[in-house]
Amino acid sequence: MSRAADRIKVFRGDITALTVDAIVNAANNSLLGGGGVDGAIHRAAGPQLLAECRTLGGCKTGAAKITKGYHLKARHVIHTVGPVWKGGNSGEPELLASCYRESFKLAFEHEIQSMAFPAISCGVYGYPIEQACAIAVAETVTTLQVCPSMQQVYFVCFEEAVYQAYLDELAGVA
Ligand code: AR6
Repeated sequence: MSRAADRIKVFRGDITALTVDAIVNAANNSLLGGGGVDGAIHRAAGPQLLAECRTLGGCKTGAAKITKGYHLKARHVIHTVGPVWKGGNSGEPELLASCYRESFKLAFEHEIQSMAFPAISCGVYGYPIEQACAIAVAETVTTLQVCPSMQQVYFVCFEEAVYQAYLDELAGVA
């Protein structure tokens, strides 16, 4: 098994363009679409994604649910709901860590070997980027160390500041 850090890549661009087994959506509790990466994923996947999401009964913050990918290149979408940043004393770190853990759990249940995460909570939900990156990287490294079946995890960054934060965080791991 290759080292955890060797199976992590930082990608600058649009998550919907990636050919991976699953992309992760930074959704809201309704799972019925929204702006940001959620809007982009729904647009790229087509209306069947919303139809499947309507059957799921929403999703709690920190939890995750899985659907098909429809018109996406990815076979699956894992929808997770990150916390809204309220200053850091409202359980935000634990909830954000839970998003990553629950997403990985679903990935293993569905034999997903490659997946891509956006910077969950780092847009509209206002989570400070460096703190969110530290959680994303720590949870991913911990998971990869015990899960040889997961071959590739991408952190997909739309903005330069997010891209830099991931590179800095990963430099500390490698
Ligand atoms: N590919 C990759 N990353 C993207 C893309 C894309 N196509 N588009 C935006 N980002 P956000 P949140 C980045 O706001 O903070 C939605 O309305 C973006 O630059 O999408 O978890 C949901 O329905 C940022 O770095 O998610 C919820 O209501 C990161 O993705 C709410 O927003 C996350 O930004 C969730 O807020």
